[in-house]
Amino acid sequence: MGTQSELQATVQSLVRKGKGLLAADESGPTIAKRFKAIGVESTEDNRRAYRSLLLSSAGLGEHISGVILYAETLGQQADDGTPLPQLAAGQGIVPGIKVDAGKIALAHAPGDEITEGLDGLAKRLEPYKQQGARFAKWRAVYNVDGVRPSRLAVQANADALACYAAICQEQGIVPIVEPEVLIDGDHSLDRCAEVTENVLHEVFHALHRHAVALEHMLLKPSMVVPGKDHAQQAGPAEVAAWTIRVLRRTVPAAVPGIFFLSGGQTPAEATANLDAINRLGPQPWLLSFSYGRALQDPAMQAWKGQAAHARATQDALLKRARLNGAASQGKYEPAMEAAAR
Ligand code: 13P
Repeated sequence: MGTQSELQATVQSLVRKGKGLLAADESGPTIAKRFKAIGVESTEDNRRAYRSLLLSSAGLGEHISGVILYAETLGQQADDGTPLPQLAAGQGIVPGIKVDAGKIALAHAPGDEITEGLDGLAKRLEPYKQQGARFAKWRAVYNVDGVRPSRLAVQANADALACYAAICQEQGIVPIVEPEVLIDGDHSLDRCAEVTENVLHEVFHALHRHAVALEHMLLKPSMVVPGKDHAQQAGPAEVAAWTIRVLRRTVPAAVPGIFFLSGGQTPAEATANLDAINRLGPQPWLLSFSYGRALQDPAMQAWKGQAAHARATQDALLKRARLNGAASQGKYEPAMEAAAR
């Protein structure tokens, strides 16, 4: 298959009505933090056991079209020897891979950060592809206060995101471009909207400079929400109105899908907000979810490292996947939270 048709086929498998993505690509330190919270040691086998459990949930593919994995997981196997990417693919879930190498302080920009990982990226993609990855993810983060992110941080991260996306497309891997405006801090909804608009504007400018085909990429943005320490929090209707306004101003219609991150929202908030966004009516792009914590937190709480809790773990994941699938069509009702799975 030529690179263009390969990219097109992957986009078509990922962008599906009523489906979203599962972000299960926590890095070593992040998964250790999540496991610690439930009293589980982060050993390679515990990570394998947990992620195998998630991917073998029967029927997960009804609401999940793709899963973002960490490099270690691509090489791991379920108890019966099935490679984990194959376990996902067997459920109609396209495997993807986080390829950034995390963030560091941005030089000469106190309080700002830049994402690393471009060196050798094209070469790293080859084995990932052989292991079954068809798409990739790169996350840039923006800290918000009265003056941050600086112009330099907005430009430098946009450039890295665009460079990454171009390298992926050349290798036949669909890039997910993830600019995350952080929820941490006491900034207002207006301030988040202002920063998000600047960030997305710069990202699409850079993508154009790097000749990235917008039809063959996906966007993973944060929703427009007030900082979590801001006195006035916003309900779903307000979050939806601001988020859609900013996206309509900045994201070209050629982008096939926008898959939000949950970024520290509770599972129920992330679902209600996605639902409100989709109730605003037809938009040029599919609007769905690519949640990590908002899909996994209840499952992790149920699991607590116990093989005997397998069924409850999978039920908790399936429930969030189903509710978010409904929200991605504007068909979620809070009463649906009462169901067991
Ligand atoms: P959260 O939904 O937990 O923010 O994770 C999504 C993600 O992939 C962050 O990079």
